[in-house]
Amino acid sequence: MNFELKALSQDAMGRQKTDVLLVFLTTAFKPGKDALSKLIAGVLKSEDLANVAGQVLDIHRPNGLACSRLVLLHTGDGVQADVRKAVAAGVALLKPSKPAHVTLFFTENPTAQTVRVAVTVFADSSYAYTTTKTKAEGRSISRMTLVVGSDMSVKSDFDRAVAAVNGIELAKEWGNRPANHATPRQLAEAARGLAKFSRIKCQVLGPKEVAKLGMGAFEAVAMGSDEPLRFIVLSYNGAAKSSRPTVLVGKGITFDSGGISIKPAPEMDEMKFDMCGAASVLGAFRAVAELQPDINVVGLIPACENLLSGRSVKPGDVVTSMSGQTIEILNTDAEGRLVLCDALTYAERFKPRAVIDIATLTGACVIALGGVRSGVFSTDDELSGALVRAGVSAHDLCWPMPLDDDYAEGLKTNFADVANVAGRPGGAITAAKFLQRFVSKYPWAHLDIAGTAWRSGAAKGATGRPVGLLLDYLMATALSGKKE
Ligand code: BES
Ligand code: MN
Ligand code: ZN
Repeated sequence: MNFELKALSQDAMGRQKTDVLLVFLTTAFKPGKDALSKLIAGVLKSEDLANVAGQVLDIHRPNGLACSRLVLLHTGDGVQADVRKAVAAGVALLKPSKPAHVTLFFTENPTAQTVRVAVTVFADSSYAYTTTKTKAEGRSISRMTLVVGSDMSVKSDFDRAVAAVNGIELAKEWGNRPANHATPRQLAEAARGLAKFSRIKCQVLGPKEVAKLGMGAFEAVAMGSDEPLRFIVLSYNGAAKSSRPTVLVGKGITFDSGGISIKPAPEMDEMKFDMCGAASVLGAFRAVAELQPDINVVGLIPACENLLSGRSVKPGDVVTSMSGQTIEILNTDAEGRLVLCDALTYAERFKPRAVIDIATLTGACVIALGGVRSGVFSTDDELSGALVRAGVSAHDLCWPMPLDDDYAEGLKTNFADVANVAGRPGGAITAAKFLQRFVSKYPWAHLDIAGTAWRSGAAKGATGRPVGLLLDYLMATALSGKKE
């Protein structure tokens, strides 16, 4: 989709050709002398549209306006939640006819926040997955114009939102692809593709290199599959070499069957989404590539399948991680922490200012927080606070979770330094406690996105979260770095 921001008077906008004009009005609406004003005033007077949030009126070939179709959407007092709902409702109304060019106009000059909401909600609601469908979708909404009055001060917010959308859509695309169309090798190719952008480099390691690094935990997960593992290293260099990077680590299990500790059949297809952490790293890089901030970022993706075969790792097997710690694999379905722990050790070599891992790690986190907020676990209050704030500004929420040492009790075993599972209680936290054993060298945060990375049911599909959160977090580090 092509997004553009235009400054036009209300009168000039009414004379612009577009397939659909979406007009968002508030209770504060004061009519001017232009055709659109007259039309809205008449509509309100006749009470064809009540002067409250949620009201919608769809008009074909409106008199005196150049658009083919006009949709009036009432946002009440224009609070964010009502604007979100109205933009989504507007797109839902248009989706069946798929007009090529849609123009958005707010009767009250939109704030920076409204501009971001308009772009991101519009893109989210109009997104459609097509890669493995043969039926041509035909037309699609291909162009969106956001009209503001004379004030172009929201341009940087608009650009940020468009970059976020491009990252989110990349994350959705890779999340949604079936596992046989998103293998570790294909994921690595997608990462390599990002190296076409300025300041981005990509290096891909295979089984031999990973063995040489001593990543025994990662190797143990990959062992049961015929698909070779990949360890993807992305870097974005926007600052001096001496400037410590933020490292993003994304769980890249392209399919999680559970391994020998096999999962039940119902909904197992959804385990193609078990690489959404990896997809969010690709998405964040895509967005950063567009905005070119003065920061350094590293992306690490351990990618493999978790399958069953004669070569699979077995419950009770003990493996040696890259850190040297031995791990008793009591449950082969707790594989995310195994691939992540070696990536977290690898991260040390970048002397990071902070490391954030992103993972569809535990069903327990879905039970704890549902699909509204991701869980954030951190050894650093400042980092945790910054992530929570980025979640608010990007409308991609997360919530702090505890890391008390008492939660690690269940990870003790007689046969290795640590077991990969504890009991069922506090499962999201015990998983984080396992990871914490590998992050002593830098400030660390872990985002459990098991509940937020995709939706189930009729609307099944990747959400592209938490790309928005990550982008806002990274952009904020660029700002605070400048203040120093
Ligand atoms: N990828 C799953 C977590 C998951 C499950 C995410 C369901 C979203 C929905 C992860 O690898 C896993 O299987 N975790 C186990 C851990 C358990 C064996 C300690 C889980 O949550 O059941
Ligand atoms: Mn699993
Ligand atoms: Zn998993």
